[in-house]
Amino acid sequence: MLGARAQGGWRALRRCASLPRAVRLRVREALGAREAADAVRVQGWVRSVRSQKEVLFLHINDGSSLEHLQVVANPSLENRDLTFGSAVEVQGKLVKSPHRKQNMELQAETIRVVGPCDIWSFPLKMKERHPLEYVRQFPHLRCRNNTLGSLLRIRSEATAAIHSFFQDNGYVHIHTPIITSNDCEGAGELFQIETSSEVREPAEKTHFFNVPAFLTVSGQLHLEVMAGAFTHVFTFGPTFRAENSQSRRHLAEFYMVEAELSFTENLQDIMQVMEDLFKTVTSTVLSKCPHDVELFHKYVAPAQKDRLEQILKNKFVTISYSEAVEILKQASQTFTFKPEWGCDLQTEHEKYLVKHCGEIPVFVINYPYDLKPFYMRDNEDGPQHTVAAVDLLVPGIGELCGGSLREERLPFLESRLQRLGLTDAYQWYLDLRKFGSVPHGGFGMGFERYLQYILGVDNIKDVIPFPRFSHSCLL
Ligand code: 4AD
Ligand code: MG
Repeated sequence: MLGARAQGGWRALRRCASLPRAVRLRVREALGAREAADAVRVQGWVRSVRSQKEVLFLHINDGSSLEHLQVVANPSLENRDLTFGSAVEVQGKLVKSPHRKQNMELQAETIRVVGPCDIWSFPLKMKERHPLEYVRQFPHLRCRNNTLGSLLRIRSEATAAIHSFFQDNGYVHIHTPIITSNDCEGAGELFQIETSSEVREPAEKTHFFNVPAFLTVSGQLHLEVMAGAFTHVFTFGPTFRAENSQSRRHLAEFYMVEAELSFTENLQDIMQVMEDLFKTVTSTVLSKCPHDVELFHKYVAPAQKDRLEQILKNKFVTISYSEAVEILKQASQTFTFKPEWGCDLQTEHEKYLVKHCGEIPVFVINYPYDLKPFYMRDNEDGPQHTVAAVDLLVPGIGELCGGSLREERLPFLESRLQRLGLTDAYQWYLDLRKFGSVPHGGFGMGFERYLQYILGVDNIKDVIPFPRFSHSCLL
């Protein structure tokens, strides 16, 4: 069959000195074409070259799909620069492929190497399934690897699905500031912003904004402002935490999805939005990127697919913080941190709770008052006993979302801020409780942790476009 193919049209085609300008197709379009087409042009990077006596096979990828486009050419079109990794433009005929596994293939009439690639020094190798740890060393080249290609297409689809979820449900998208003077969480380490002259002359003690400024740790307080006018709002942007944690679930720069809902008195309503967001976005990603997701569920985390399908069908579980502590106290397992009412849940505790509940997402609600930030609403179940807070814990990761009802009652908020010595700094926030205050609440979901969870990726650095494997690499 190959012989017939080789002897067929090639000689005749080479006789045509100049070819008509062909229709440019992306690889995805070429693969999905219903009909053959005579003059087609495809550009991309070579993923494999196989030269046989009578035929030359190439696989081309341009990032539009996981699947490569097979190019079939006369061996006379081969040249020294046509190697794995090189950038090429191929022109020819798009025809039905005789192979069962692919729909279409391109019969090349011309192959132009646009950018050669030195295969000896190129760190990616043909046909090798490089481990994620290996490609992490090449943040500038790893997007040419299949796994990272799939990840970044999924990330792009998930971003669009998150925006659609909120837009479809009547939320207004708000761009909250990245540079801000407020420290929403109160606890975390911040990145402070200084101009280069402030760094050069620290004695001057001047600030570009007159006050110390930081990279945002959360857009929540700004969203609360907007929820006071638009009722339902969301933001989805970069967030920064200077925790210097090298754990497999912490980043210094990550994306957070945050929503805020006015006229909401019940924590259950906030939890329902979290669950709907998770399920809708995940279903969309599974249906829009089936092959990309399959790669992860086949090679990175086998069994994750079935687990995810089960999770999408069933309701998430809810337990209170007090119940959680009881479960932990009765566990046969010994923990490094002894579970005690009033203490933070550690990762080991979160993992145990999720396992105890059947390896499904678990909402933990009503945390101790003293453990949580000043803005959370007092449940009034005792003197400053618990607040209407919720964390969503998921298998393998721990905390995926954190949220709460916000304290909308002026006297409660005033006395809490006073005790913390924050009254002056938060005058504007107190104002919101004076002018048309309503019960409201919201939550934030870490986007990278979300991707890590649905795809079963162990290290959070493998779900971001540019990993920082050390603090000295700031590509
Ligand atoms: O629980 P956090 O700190 O909540 C807030 O910032 C609230 N103000 C959000 C709100 O109510 N609008 O962060 C929310 C989520 C966490 O549950 C976690 O998934 C993620 O953000 N997150 C991180 N992800 C990666 N690296 C880090 N260092 C993270 N810190 C938090
Ligand atoms: Mg939290």
